[in-house]
Amino acid sequence: MNKKTDNIHQDIEKVLIDSETINKKIKELGEKISCDYKGKNPVLIAILKGSVILLSDLLKAIDINCSIDFIEVSSYGENTESSGVVKLVMDLRESIENRHVLLIEDIVDTGLTMEYLRENLLTRHPASFKICSLLSKPDRRRVSIDLDYCGFEIPDDFVVGYGLDYNEKYRNLDYIGTLKKRIYKKNG
Ligand code: IMP
Repeated sequence: MNKKTDNIHQDIEKVLIDSETINKKIKELGEKISCDYKGKNPVLIAILKGSVILLSDLLKAIDINCSIDFIEVSSYGENTESSGVVKLVMDLRESIENRHVLLIEDIVDTGLTMEYLRENLLTRHPASFKICSLLSKPDRRRVSIDLDYCGFEIPDDFVVGYGLDYNEKYRNLDYIGTLKKRIYKKNG
């Protein structure tokens, strides 16, 4: 890799949501979740890999007892379009029976991933089931999904940063942005 060109910021076309705005929103979400789940010891389930940064920041903004777990699904591959087929790649460690489940997602796009996970997790009889997503692209929805906690609604653009990737890159940006067109072209 060329050291001179190895800087992720230079591939960004436009910053959609800056890090200050994201941090403020996470604080608000954390306060609301702490209030809604007081005394309920919820389990926050992060969907790998995109939600890890959100989970870690959100956890610090929550001041009630809670636990965490992880689940991994795949639907995208090396593309910006969902294949529409969702696969379970890694399951939860713990049982969620009688637990208050809060599913943590980076972005709800078509909604197919969420629909798959909702159906799957509800068969395990949680005490309650809610969804928190940092981003939502309502114009792209193919199935109806109720987001109990949503950070920002964004237009139909492919975005990267704050956990979201393109071909496994750009997760480490602390803001959300769009990529320059040449990046997609380079990857065919
Ligand atoms: P859905 O099943 O179409 O709702 O897609 C959900 C998953 O697709 C998310 O968890 C992301 O991993 C990925 N995804 C959807 N839109 C974007 C985007 O704009 N940038 C990066 N990943 C995305």
